[in-house]
Amino acid sequence: GEITYGEAIEKASASIHRFPLIPIRGIPLMNYIAQNWDSIWAFCPDPSDLLIATYPKAGTTWTQEIVDLLLHNGDAEACRRAPTPVRSPFLEIFSPPPIPSGLDFLNKMPPPRVIKTHLPFQLVPLGFWENKCKTIYVARNAKDNMVSYFHFDCMNLTQPEPGPWEGYIHKFMRGELSWGSWYDHVKGYWAEREKRNILYLFYEDMKENPRREVVRIMKYLDLSLSDDVIDRIVELTSFKKMKENPMANYTFIPTPVFDQSISAFMRKGEVGDWMNHFTAEQSKMFDEDYEKQMKEANIPFRTNI
Ligand code: A3P
Repeated sequence: GEITYGEAIEKASASIHRFPLIPIRGIPLMNYIAQNWDSIWAFCPDPSDLLIATYPKAGTTWTQEIVDLLLHNGDAEACRRAPTPVRSPFLEIFSPPPIPSGLDFLNKMPPPRVIKTHLPFQLVPLGFWENKCKTIYVARNAKDNMVSYFHFDCMNLTQPEPGPWEGYIHKFMRGELSWGSWYDHVKGYWAEREKRNILYLFYEDMKENPRREVVRIMKYLDLSLSDDVIDRIVELTSFKKMKENPMANYTFIPTPVFDQSISAFMRKGEVGDWMNHFTAEQSKMFDEDYEKQMKEANIPFRTNI
């Protein structure tokens, strides 16, 4: 019979290590992604496919779970049919064999599919825009996003070593992390959101009023579910519920890839954790650089909540 995703990762464990990054059109990507770039770029979605795009650690998994529940009328059991990346494949991911790639999952799945990507706007295969696919973008404030990425890079043994925190801040500011610059990422999708009908969401809004944002996603998907079902979806996608959900909390990825004894995938799920990481000096330096990189972007990030 077929081996499970987890078993495939176990089998590949000897070849799992901290993969180097290789630039594709200036964006540093994991070597396995870069080596398979032509097949990723050639991917053509169906017009019925939905894209969920994020910079890593901005709330991708949360949004994937909300969307899956919306598409299944809040049926919790249906949404426990498989782990997140099997239900909602990760477009560009390639790993050592026999781990299936994102394209392997997609090619076995009939549309409409919910597709995850961390690619910056300019690297998203053009078929998504030619076919006018619905796209949800989630942005998270820079400091919390970086904190989350730092802890993730400590535990995800396929990502480059994060190194010490102080140096990580500089790598983030220079866009040297996997999937490139946070600044260019959030600005790239922001600039295209009207032309491409992208629903541009903020992690902080989702934390502030999850029900309001779930309803927003529901309307964007042209669905209309009952108030009870919406309430249930909000409940099922709380941080606490998702942390306990084995099909959403990434415990299905074995230790050679994600070592959750270092840091849980469902780590804190809060706004403002950056305050526990940045010194006053680091914060000042970061803010000065942020002003330069984000001036005239006019993206309504809110951190005062
Ligand atoms: P923290 O590391 O700050 O806890 P992604 O899915 O894009 O990799 O993002 C992961 C981040 O989203 C982690 O942030 C994780 O805890 C948080 N997250 C996941 N599910 C969440 C939920 N239901 N509510 C709030 N935050 C959630």
